[in-house]
Amino acid sequence: MGEHRRTILITGASAGIGAALARVCAGRGYDLILTARREGPLQALAEDLTTRHGVSVSVITTDLAESGAPAALVAAIAARGLKVDGLVNNAGFSRTTGFLATDPADHAAMIRVMLTAPVELSRLLLPGMAARGWGRVLNVASLAGQMPATGGDTLYGPIKSFLIKASQGLWLETQGTGVHVTALCPGYTYTEFHDVNGSREQVSSAYPKWMWMDADRVARIGWDAVEANRPRVTPGAANNVLAALGGLLPDSLALKMVGGHARRLDRL
Ligand SMILES: NC(=O)c1ccc[n+]([C@@H]2O[C@H](COP(=O)([O-])OP(=O)(O)OC[C@H]3O[C@@H](n4cnc5c(N)ncnc54)[C@H](OP(=O)(O)O)[C@@H]3O)[C@@H](O)[C@H]2O)c1
Repeated sequence: MGEHRRTILITGASAGIGAALARVCAGRGYDLILTARREGPLQALAEDLTTRHGVSVSVITTDLAESGAPAALVAAIAARGLKVDGLVNNAGFSRTTGFLATDPADHAAMIRVMLTAPVELSRLLLPGMAARGWGRVLNVASLAGQMPATGGDTLYGPIKSFLIKASQGLWLETQGTGVHVTALCPGYTYTEFHDVNGSREQVSSAYPKWMWMDADRVARIGWDAVEANRPRVTPGAANNVLAALGGLLPDSLALKMVGGHARRLDRL
């Protein structure tokens, strides 16, 4: 990209889909700003990508569950003299203990990390992208956001639905500005996600291997979609069938389907 080097900020880049997106973007010549709470894996990834692809990679640790974290992150980026041309809102986690048993602080953190942070980061960074006539915003939502509910993990699906709708609205608003906005809606993906929420054993025994995708493939599909300016992409044929069913079935049947799913995972 010569003198027009562009920089992509990726949240939740210390593991899983975020780290995979960092590998995809570095492979395509983008400079990166990687953020998450754990510094060790971010630094290791930064060194690897710099060596492998010759791109410039900055690491800034942040806890996006803290109020004001997005603004502090943007200020830290500006203080380093960096500008952000692309934003990947990827950091996320879930709690599968049911609404009543989940610590209210965990609910607040889910909302801050997966909903408030993407909104605030987008609002802070999109004006610069629009003014420069080039931008990429990739919001990592979920197949769960296309389902009528996520039983036992009550807020997760609605948060991801929000992200899909907000992405579609932004896609409309940014047409013709050079800014592309996409919601990426993965199904089951091999990452640390199910270790963090403690459901690795249940999901591994309840769902066959063909329902799972690897994070690198999901990341490639997601980045290709934002480059192509698609408002939403669901990776994998099986996930597309499930997403279509989720939208077509009447509530009674759809809730039966997701209720059965939640029971198989011991969430109801
Ligand atoms: N895996 C799946 O099956 C699946 C399916 C659909 C959608 N997704 C979505 O994909 C995205 C990435 O998840 P993943 O599957 O790659 O999971 P993962 O391997 O557990 O990675 C999650 C990332 O989010 C970061 N993160 C979590 N809490 C944070 C906080 N408070 N502040 C800053 N960063 C935080 C983690 O970094 P630190 O721990 O270092 O902070 C980590 O880098 C999430 O939005 C998830 O909802 C996953």
